[in-house]
Amino acid sequence: MSKTALITGSNKGIGFEIARQLGKKGFKVFISGRNEVKVKKSLGNLLDEGIDAEMLVTDISDLESIQRAAIEFMKLNLKLDVLINNAAILMKEDRSLLTNSPSINENTIQTNCYGVINITKEFLQFIPNGGRIINISSGGGSMTDPVGGWSPAYCVSKTTLNSITRQLAFELLGKNIAVNSVCPGWVKTDMGGQGASRLVEKGAETPVWLANEAPQSLTGKFLRDKKEIPW
Ligand SMILES: NC(=O)c1ccc[n+]([C@@H]2O[C@H](COP(=O)([O-])OP(=O)(O)OC[C@H]3O[C@@H](n4cnc5c(N)ncnc54)[C@H](OP(=O)(O)O)[C@@H]3O)[C@@H](O)[C@H]2O)c1
Repeated sequence: MSKTALITGSNKGIGFEIARQLGKKGFKVFISGRNEVKVKKSLGNLLDEGIDAEMLVTDISDLESIQRAAIEFMKLNLKLDVLINNAAILMKEDRSLLTNSPSINENTIQTNCYGVINITKEFLQFIPNGGRIINISSGGGSMTDPVGGWSPAYCVSKTTLNSITRQLAFELLGKNIAVNSVCPGWVKTDMGGQGASRLVEKGAETPVWLANEAPQSLTGKFLRDKKEIPW
């Protein structure tokens, strides 16, 4: 039986490319997003490539929406070998923690942090021993690199996501579920912009490797280009 993977926020960008690459490797992939029309269109593109794909509509900023998606998944009676927490927002108005309207800081943390905790909690019941969880983070969340002065709420959310990775990796050691954070690099997408240095193929490379080939013992780490980087 083929392995299954759910990739959040995979109607476009890096998430779509991760789904495409895992599908090409024989995974059954569940693509996901908050907008049903967009997700359906992207599902069609994967099916046209001969990929075994299904869709799950869910807004990760909304716990009830996540719970509905978990009920849908349960009906399929499948295990979930890999959960890729890719969905995130970076709001263009996010310029200063001190002057951002509260909703900018709150929405960013709600989606990029609580969204990851909530979907992981609701889908953990389907993840078997030996499963893998991959959180798509960012160099912007690094506590080692100098502060870049851009999108501070987003950067705080990715630092927090890295901490979530460490805590979940510890909590799930007993189930032998590997949990890691990945910085995909600066990637040409709607979020990264057209000036970015990497194509989506490169941005998807390390998450796909972690989903499929990396040693199961690799857990609780922050990686870029298949190598551990400092937090
Ligand atoms: N691109 C870069 O240079 C870069 C660099 C470092 C890290 N990253 C990280 O890589 C990941 C993917 O980024 P990307 O560049 O591919 O971004 P993107 O093109 O903006 O795609 C983001 C995806 O997340 C979805 N999404 C946003 N909020 C959601 C929600 N509440 N519920 C469900 N889905 C939601 C979007 O759906 P809609 O279409 O409905 O908006 C879209 O499918 C993110 O975690 C990002 O932080 C990106």
